[in-house]
Amino acid sequence: MNKTIFIEDITAGATGVEEIFSVKEIQKHTAKNGDPYFRVVLQDKTGTIQGKIWKDAIALTKAETLAVGDVIKIDFEASEYNGNLQMTIRRAEKTTEYDAGDLMKVSEKDLEAMYAKLLEFLESLKDADIKRVVLTMAKDPELSKRLKTAIAGELVHHDYIGGLLEHTLEMMSIAETILRLYPRANRSIVMGGIFLHDLGKIEELGMDNTTFFRTLPGYLIGHITLGMQLLQRFIPPAFPQEKKLALEHIILSHHRELEFGAVVKPATLEAIIVSMCDLSSSVVRQFQKELDEGKSDESGFGGYHKYMKNRIYHKEIIEQETETEPVDS
Ligand SMILES: [Fe+2]
Ligand SMILES: [Fe+2]
Repeated sequence: MNKTIFIEDITAGATGVEEIFSVKEIQKHTAKNGDPYFRVVLQDKTGTIQGKIWKDAIALTKAETLAVGDVIKIDFEASEYNGNLQMTIRRAEKTTEYDAGDLMKVSEKDLEAMYAKLLEFLESLKDADIKRVVLTMAKDPELSKRLKTAIAGELVHHDYIGGLLEHTLEMMSIAETILRLYPRANRSIVMGGIFLHDLGKIEELGMDNTTFFRTLPGYLIGHITLGMQLLQRFIPPAFPQEKKLALEHIILSHHRELEFGAVVKPATLEAIIVSMCDLSSSVVRQFQKELDEGKSDESGFGGYHKYMKNRIYHKEIIEQETETEPVDS
């Protein structure tokens, strides 16, 4: 079953027949006049959109039976309401015939190739103790399976299948350059720390066949502590204490400031390097994402970016230098 319209292309007045989306949220409400209606959020790989199922369409959409994670084909009409786009759903039917790649965002990079590149980075570590433990983790059948598809964030950056691997490799490439400038830093601790820093996200964030979500351990414990727990599970009892501390400190401090969720502030050269690589890979990536996906007005500025707390300028002030080769992270 092919989709002919994606959420990013829907504008007010657009209509669709038997178009496929997944249900991200659905709640029953009561209008002021007492009529029941459903408020839904639908999703495809390009984003999410609000939708309404009014009283007269409840039977035709079998709204009472719809649940989060369902894939549905719908007839709809899009309109603007209070400045936001929303769709009125006239008819809906659950379907099992769909292409998951239409509904969930996937990294543009090959997942197996990224995993191979990660192993290559970890194989290159000089410190035998650190190398052994990170490779054991990376090659663990259960961990590696989840690592290959894990996302790095729900909304903000690398929020797609393979996002965690992409984020990790991007940081390792940045670190390689930084390490050349600061030779006092221990490369095995920096690279091992980068591998470990967000690994808890494989337990913090989950996915079913159509949606990403935060897990209960994600809400109640969070990826920093979940990452610490993962490391404790794999680290052998005889592991040198000072190396263990250095790695743990990176997991605990990588958010840099206590108000950003760090348990402690970075206190080692390796920890500050990892947190700077993290900042670069997440923040610069958000700029890139805004330029790729956001829209700007005639002035060239996009709308207020709620994470950057700023408006980002989309036009090129001077032409891009075409000879700059993109680095393969
Ligand atoms: Fe993190
Ligand atoms: Fe990170």
